[in-house]
Amino acid sequence: MSVFAYRNGVLHAEGVALPVIAEAVGTPFYCYSSAALTANHRAYAGAFEGQDVSVCYAVKANSNLAVIGTFAALGAGADVVSEGEMRRALAAGVPASRIVFSGVGKTRGEMRAALEAGIHQLNVESVPELEALSEVATSMGVAAPIAIRVNPDVDAKTHAKIATGKKENKFGIDWDHARDVYARAAALPGIAPVGIAVHIGSQLTDLAPFRAAFERVVELLHVLRADGIDISRLDLGGGLGIRYRDETPPDLPAYAGMVRSITGNLGCRVTVEPGRSLVGNAGILVAKVIYVKQGLHRRFLIVDAAMNDLIRPTLYDAYHAILPVAEPGPHPEIAPIDVVGPVCESGDTFALQRPLPAMASDDLVAFASAGAYGAVMSSTYNTRPLAPEVLVRDDRFAVVRRRPSVEEMLAAEQVPDWAG
Ligand code: LLP
Repeated sequence: MSVFAYRNGVLHAEGVALPVIAEAVGTPFYCYSSAALTANHRAYAGAFEGQDVSVCYAVKANSNLAVIGTFAALGAGADVVSEGEMRRALAAGVPASRIVFSGVGKTRGEMRAALEAGIHQLNVESVPELEALSEVATSMGVAAPIAIRVNPDVDAKTHAKIATGKKENKFGIDWDHARDVYARAAALPGIAPVGIAVHIGSQLTDLAPFRAAFERVVELLHVLRADGIDISRLDLGGGLGIRYRDETPPDLPAYAGMVRSITGNLGCRVTVEPGRSLVGNAGILVAKVIYVKQGLHRRFLIVDAAMNDLIRPTLYDAYHAILPVAEPGPHPEIAPIDVVGPVCESGDTFALQRPLPAMASDDLVAFASAGAYGAVMSSTYNTRPLAPEVLVRDDRFAVVRRRPSVEEMLAAEQVPDWAG
């Protein structure tokens, strides 16, 4: 299913022509498709049907309330990594009983908020964090249901900045310490060690590293059960990759079949925490060409979106397909061009020497696969207001986050009378 497709020569999101949205909200803007979000969730739910698996959407990928709410209405839980994300998930209608709190550095305030909300589970990543949680839970007279995130020392074969499961990464408890840390957890007041968590990285395009990590987790589960620790939950993290260009990520039935073959007979409730694969290809970023600049050596397509709106190309050398919103004719002349934003850094480059048909000022372009880690990683660098987010459903669209005015941005700042 392609929800972003040309109809009558114009790129549409479902039934809405993108120039109509551009006219209404200005550029740049993010545009998400309800149909794609729903289909992506159904694909997960369908693949795991009949298994005791709960899909907890990793809110960090796209934390717009309307996006989380779409998944919540379909029965998804949420994986959150801050109090802010937890409050978003609750506000969007995710029941506390379906929220998992991950993250390498939860503060005591965040632990208290999570325990007050009564969330399903906290995933603990270090001994000091375990001790802090024990104190917080004890002071509240509750027992915190926890999984310990273990670091299985498995190479996820993804970009170094998003690989998390090697022993040199900051994440999780070292494999060789895991058993001792569980023993410590079981002895601490206010701590109920009920699960094991693992997450080895993002944008994985091969099942083998998942399998290696999950097999190690099951090995540990048997050791812990023999130690008398009643592990009844496994959290297998997120990380299924998507197609940005020509990647061939594993399909969901294959992934679900692998999960079943490894965990199916353990009597455990399994949680998966997909982010990118639920939202990545359900969203685009639409920008307008400001100028086409012909240099002596290169041509530049200067657009009104920038690295502050989509940082993935400069941060991870990520490829995002770039589509002219006006459909090129049957035999367009294609020439390489550098697609760049207006920010004052050479890193503000979306693509180098990308083969594209000729475009002119005021033409619209769409950056594909921008539904995940797009808006959530945006900033106001160069005092560029955050781009609005739009949700489309059939032939309707709604602004689900509006563009702040520069006045609003300035209003949050104050100049003390002793400055300036
Ligand atoms: N669970 C945990 C504990 C995570 O750390 C992550 C992602 C996920 C689940 C969701 O992973 P996914 O299904 O989305 O791969 N900004 C980067 C990606 C960072 C991923 C961080 N953790 C990017 O744009 O590629």
